[in-house]
Amino acid sequence: METFSHPGDLRRHLDGLRRQGQSIGFVPTMGFLHAGHMALVDRAAQETDRVVVSIFVNPTQFGDPKDLETYPRDTERDLAMLREAGVAAVFLPGVEDIYPEGSETIVETMRLANVLHGEVREGHFRGVATVVAKLFNIVQPDCACFGEKDYQQLQVIRTMVRDLHFPLRIIGCPTVREADGLALSSRNVRLGPEDRTAALVLNRALDRAQELAATGATVEEIQAGITALVQAEPRAHLRAVDVTEAVTLRPATGRPGGQLAVMLSAEFGGVLLIDQREILP
Ligand code: PAF
Repeated sequence: METFSHPGDLRRHLDGLRRQGQSIGFVPTMGFLHAGHMALVDRAAQETDRVVVSIFVNPTQFGDPKDLETYPRDTERDLAMLREAGVAAVFLPGVEDIYPEGSETIVETMRLANVLHGEVREGHFRGVATVVAKLFNIVQPDCACFGEKDYQQLQVIRTMVRDLHFPLRIIGCPTVREADGLALSSRNVRLGPEDRTAALVLNRALDRAQELAATGATVEEIQAGITALVQAEPRAHLRAVDVTEAVTLRPATGRPGGQLAVMLSAEFGGVLLIDQREILP
């Protein structure tokens, strides 16, 4: 496994692989890897000949400087996991490699970035789209894998790829959960034991949303039912509950005619967690 920090070096290496006829699968990450990331790596390996992983804690997608500062990092452990998984190359750029002095270009999906979680995390999806566009241009992969837990992020990226004609396939992969239902997230390590138990309410709320939808509830009833469920957990500080049309994330009302997206975010002891899923009426 080779590691690179300069975009030019990685591109030259990958150009060499492409000349040998190898296809490239890409998994962008912010490090502190867990089984959810490794499932993305496995999926990329099933789809392509060589897998490239990036580890970059992207400053432009964090609103709160403290959140950026305390974001967990363990590069040695990450590299050991990626080596074990047979990854071909890891891209570990510094901030100046991705945002060179004088950078002024941003990428923004104008509507999708600014609704729902984009409203409570102002600028977050602009930061995500900008860094992912840069990474796609550097790696030029045949496909890239993203987790469905970050459902709005996945739709932002799909939209950007379509609108900017990036020549690659985006693959959404199912959320990996602990045995008790907690969605894997690098942030989970910052949860104390009581907050970790409390955070299970997010998965329970998603299950409840699916039950309500299956029994003919309206969007408003689903929204009210799961809001009450999360609010009944005293350690949860609810940030957002959204029930929308799947994929477009446009508002939905009344009896759902098709798939819905349910997107939750809440803080537990100051740690912001999200859990999101498609549900079927
Ligand atoms: O999902 C993440 O880890 C990040 O948002 C991503 C896609 C790597 C961009 O920084």
